[in-house]
Amino acid sequence: MPIILSREHLCRILAMTEAIQALEDGFREYSRGHCFVPVRMPVRIEKANGIFLFMPAYLKKEDSFGTKMISVFPENLKKGISTLQSVYLLNDPMPGELLALMDGIFLTAIRTGAASAVATKYLARENSEVLGMIGTGAQAPFQAEGVCAVRPIKTILIFDRVDEIAKKFSKTNSPRLRVPIEVMRSTHEVVVKSDILVTVTTSIQPVFDGHDLKPGTHINAVGAYTPEMRELDDVTVRRARIVVDTYEGCLAEAGDLLIPMKAGRISKESIHADLGEIVLGKKPCSTEEDEITLFESVGFALEDLVTARLAYHRAKESGTRFEFSFTHPSGKHQVTEEVGKGIKLDPAHAVRTA
Ligand SMILES: NC(=O)c1ccc[n+]([C@@H]2O[C@H](COP(=O)([O-])OP(=O)(O)OC[C@H]3O[C@@H](n4cnc5c(N)ncnc54)[C@H](O)[C@@H]3O)[C@@H](O)[C@H]2O)c1
Repeated sequence: MPIILSREHLCRILAMTEAIQALEDGFREYSRGHCFVPVRMPVRIEKANGIFLFMPAYLKKEDSFGTKMISVFPENLKKGISTLQSVYLLNDPMPGELLALMDGIFLTAIRTGAASAVATKYLARENSEVLGMIGTGAQAPFQAEGVCAVRPIKTILIFDRVDEIAKKFSKTNSPRLRVPIEVMRSTHEVVVKSDILVTVTTSIQPVFDGHDLKPGTHINAVGAYTPEMRELDDVTVRRARIVVDTYEGCLAEAGDLLIPMKAGRISKESIHADLGEIVLGKKPCSTEEDEITLFESVGFALEDLVTARLAYHRAKESGTRFEFSFTHPSGKHQVTEEVGKGIKLDPAHAVRTA
């Protein structure tokens, strides 16, 4: 019988460390050619300035298939409705049966944090202690948690253009991560001290000056997922060894790379590797201590699939789920049973919806 996993269920059963392992294995399989993942399909709803994105993925070895549907409607903010809505469908590819339907917002946030963690594990210096973050919205807690899981972070420095959002992030996440979090007054103050830098904003312009980067900094650039969006300037991309989540995705969508490419500042050849090639050891990580490394992330359907599979197995083991059937005699869709009680949402993981 298919199961439903709500945000609360996922929050309870998905651990960041396990998600990181699942993504690392997933990227390895991708690089071995064991997956089929088409570039996501956008459908624009122009009158509402919105977009639906469809993201299927098939992992051959594990025989797993799943599809994420995510919508982004920025104008919803004015109406107090969620700007992001998402659902994930996990199927058994052999008989094609539906296995699970789950909240795609939490899934997206944890897998995006885990992807940055995998990149950080392979590309950042071992002794990185200061994490800088620009943008402290819904994705940021997961980005911080992912980086802290793979490097001995002692301090987190943050900046958000809305000071209140940064202060709230600090108050909620400092005790959770057991790391002091300092709110800075400018991106400059964050960047000059950071060993690892995460940019996770909705910006359409560079959010810091690339001259400010310390030699040896590792950057996870997460926010710019369309050709028009941009968090990094030309100096940063020219200084960095660039690793992308996927070539296809970044060459279709990453404004951070496409804008300087169009201006002739970098070329396709400036991309050193994709993350799968790094994880599988097909290409070297970084050769010098002083080298700046950049992980450019626009999102990849395989990340959702491996995380959804993990959630499904954990839900089955732990009994944390709703079960439902499409074939109730009344003809109505019905939740037949709630398995697992006492679900409580960790406030730091309460993905802001509007
Ligand atoms: N790469 C991926 O796989 C992936 C996955 C999920 C989301 N995203 C993208 O990441 C971005 C952030 O997502 P979110 O859900 O956290 O959004 P959000 O709206 O919750 O948070 C964004 C934060 O960035 C801040 N901000 C915007 N411009 C800024 C600037 N110039 N300087 C400093 N702060 C600035 C905002 O004040 C806000 O707090 C979005 O563009 C989203 O689409 C990428």
